[in-house]
Amino acid sequence: MKPAPLHAKMAQGTSHINFLLFVILILPFIIQVSAKYYDWHYEGEVGIHTWHANYNICAAGNHQSPIDIITKDTVYDDVLKEFIIWYNPHHPKGQMIAFNDGRTVKIKTIGKFYIANGGLANPYKIDHLHLHWGVKNNNGTEHYINSQSFTMELHIVSYDVKKYDTVQKAASQPMGLAVLGVLFKESDIDNPALDLIVDNLKAMQQPGHPKVNLEAKSLRMFLPKDISRYYRYNGSLTTPACYESVIWTIFEEYNFISKKQMQKIRDLFYVYDAAEEQERLNRAKNNGTESTTETPSATLAGEGNTTDINDLFRKYRFEMVNNFRPVQDLNDRTVLRSFKELRKQSPIKTNPGNSTTSINALVHPWVTFFLLFLYLWALA
Ligand SMILES: *[C@@H]1O[C@H](CO)[C@@H](O)[C@H](O)[C@H]1NC(C)=O
Ligand SMILES: *[C@@H]1O[C@H](CO)[C@@H](O)[C@H](O)[C@H]1NC(C)=O
Ligand SMILES: *[C@@H]1O[C@H](CO)[C@@H](O)[C@H](O)[C@H]1NC(C)=O
Ligand SMILES: *[C@@H]1O[C@H](CO)[C@@H](O)[C@H](O)[C@H]1NC(C)=O
Repeated sequence: MKPAPLHAKMAQGTSHINFLLFVILILPFIIQVSAKYYDWHYEGEVGIHTWHANYNICAAGNHQSPIDIITKDTVYDDVLKEFIIWYNPHHPKGQMIAFNDGRTVKIKTIGKFYIANGGLANPYKIDHLHLHWGVKNNNGTEHYINSQSFTMELHIVSYDVKKYDTVQKAASQPMGLAVLGVLFKESDIDNPALDLIVDNLKAMQQPGHPKVNLEAKSLRMFLPKDISRYYRYNGSLTTPACYESVIWTIFEEYNFISKKQMQKIRDLFYVYDAAEEQERLNRAKNNGTESTTETPSATLAGEGNTTDINDLFRKYRFEMVNNFRPVQDLNDRTVLRSFKELRKQSPIKTNPGNSTTSINALVHPWVTFFLLFLYLWALA
């Protein structure tokens, strides 16, 4: 953070009173927001390449996540039975509270949200859900399958509730956490389950916005149709502190999200260190050509006569995209799978509508017609 050049330039472009207002009212807020949200981020000064400075396991660990799952190298394990996933609607105390945490949208679950079975020794209590996505459709998930990335990845984060009474205590302990990962691919059709999240994103478009109470629902609806087929490996948190405490489950079948829904997610914002970002923009602008030293901070901070915090956010905010960590080395690990036979195509898509059936309907009459023709021809 280099606030000095910023307010120095601000003073030139605006009245002293406005500058004073800026310093007294707004600047501490920006510094606070920056400090609060950016001890690590995905790019810039505190981007992925710097994580290890404060969180040494991120670089030193050799069981890190995410990974590229090469399906032909996975090994069948019959211990990996189907999951039980529940939120019991007979206990009306359940809550799902969504907010923009400056890096993703997080949905905290409060109440009886659990997962069990699925090869887990104990029941795990679901703490929260969050998403990872990109700016491009084929570059948004954290986990890759057969060296392919998809549009978005949902993580359902749970902790061993038999051993630990809080997620914080579990987060640094081996097998303390179990995370279910669902890969999403863009489709033309809305995924109705995701409306619960995407329709509420406008209200939490910026990190400063209040949290939003969602209607508590079973988390099963976010998963693909077939949850008996999944991959399993031991890995880490994909964000600092990168603790190697996670039993990972990645479902074989991927789910779907429409372009429209994805756009609502990409319309989220985070607030960046303004001075640093402005320098980056300048570098790009003056790329090799004449090097003007003029810092357009005044432009950045608007015309300088605003003390409206929302205006300020509009000017300092950045599109929240590419909030995923690149794949890490597998090293000595084996990825297990819950099903015997690999399918030819992996992952398998949850059918978003009847598009596949309509192709079948097209194929079938032709095949039948052809067989009938052969039969008649043989008879003749
Ligand atoms: C995917 O996005 C990341 C982060 O922006 C970038 O570094 C990488 O080159 C992209 N990969 C592809 C194949 O576009
Ligand atoms: C994860 O680690 C535990 C403890 O070392 C081990 O028992 C288990 O088999 C590992 N799971 C996988 C999927 O490798
Ligand atoms: C400068 O321009 C070149 C080519 O036009 C481009 O490849 C490069 O990424 C630019 N650098 C910056 C900092 O924008
Ligand atoms: C102050 O803001 C108003 C709109 O809110 C704008 O029209 C005007 O140009 C601004 N004044 C200065 C000096 O930038």
